[in-house]
Amino acid sequence: MLTEQQVIALLKPVKDPFLNKSFAETDAIREVMIKPETGHVSVKIGIAKMNTPEQMELQQTLVAKLKRSGATSVGLRFETLPDEVLGQFQINKDEKPSLLNGNIKTKFLAIASGKGGVGKSTVTVNIAVALARLGKKVGIIDADIYGFSIPDMMGITNRPTLKGNRIIPVEAHGVQLMSMGFFVEYNEPVIWRGPRLGKMLKSFFVEVDWAELDYLLLDLPPGTGDMALAVHNTIPSSKELIVTTPHPTAAFVASRAGKMAINTNHEIIGVVENMSYYQSLATDEKEYVFGRGGGEKLAEELSAPLIGQLPLGQPQGSEGQRGSIYSAEEPAGLIYQQIADHVIKYT
Ligand SMILES: Nc1ncnc2c1ncn2[C@@H]1O[C@H](COP(=O)(O)OP(=O)(O)OP(=O)(O)O)[C@@H](O)[C@H]1O
Ligand SMILES: [Mg+2]
Repeated sequence: MLTEQQVIALLKPVKDPFLNKSFAETDAIREVMIKPETGHVSVKIGIAKMNTPEQMELQQTLVAKLKRSGATSVGLRFETLPDEVLGQFQINKDEKPSLLNGNIKTKFLAIASGKGGVGKSTVTVNIAVALARLGKKVGIIDADIYGFSIPDMMGITNRPTLKGNRIIPVEAHGVQLMSMGFFVEYNEPVIWRGPRLGKMLKSFFVEVDWAELDYLLLDLPPGTGDMALAVHNTIPSSKELIVTTPHPTAAFVASRAGKMAINTNHEIIGVVENMSYYQSLATDEKEYVFGRGGGEKLAEELSAPLIGQLPLGQPQGSEGQRGSIYSAEEPAGLIYQQIADHVIKYT
């Protein structure tokens, strides 16, 4: 049998979907009543906005949470938080919502790998384009400041423009892009560490005038270094994909990046194995040039599904001629469409 204190303790850490603050912070738990005879728990919760899909989702989460802890039935009522509380968290209708203040619906997906050169940027760009082909509004942050490569891969030669003091991202293939590469002349390597990195990253979220986004993909630098940490600290809730090659030792290295994601509460929604095989154009036979089993092994270790195995080979279609983007019709492009479907389903 749940007590009132237990119910409050259970609900306190839950976050208001619009303010991205916990119920404890917003003083959201307005009333708790328990019927000892029946085990029925009824609560009244204050939230920032009523009658939204987010409220429905929250409703389900709360009922499930209370039932898991012993409530036989749950009665939920909602009300709008008082203006003083909303004011305190600066929900101001005139304020342009920023990507980090939690009052926007964009889903974050970080793409990580254990080591460099496994095709992380290629995978990021192609998933972004695949999502855009499905009608989603997509942006990419090329957060790999040591090896930014996405502008090239997308065939981008122009630079972002300024509107007032805000930066307008560059768009190509239906995808908006911000890259550290835009701010570095002549491909000079950038050597930034720690707090500066975090600041730079944050400005990509709050000072950039992204058009409406359903998905924002982040190409992380390889490994578990400063930037990966900065990203983990900057984005409160991101899903993550881990890219590996099929070689079993590569999977071993990649699992460290995966553990980092787990430690920082970034849910890993899948493993992508790149350069899995070479398929002969003449015989259709697959040759496993870099070994086999890495993706599967990593997926098992991270308890995440293996959601794609991409063949070796450059893009064939015309879109690829100026970059690394596979057309929707060629084999790799088809696999990217399946990966995009998975992303939509699990983010
Ligand atoms: N499936 C593939 N078949 C053939 N070449 C590929 C494939 N995937 C990626 N490549 C090539 O391998 C190289 C490395 O890929 P990419 O830059 O995407 O990797 P990365 O993990 O982002 O590397 P870095 O650590 O340098 O950022 C690129 O030249 C890319 O075109
Ligand atoms: Mg890269």
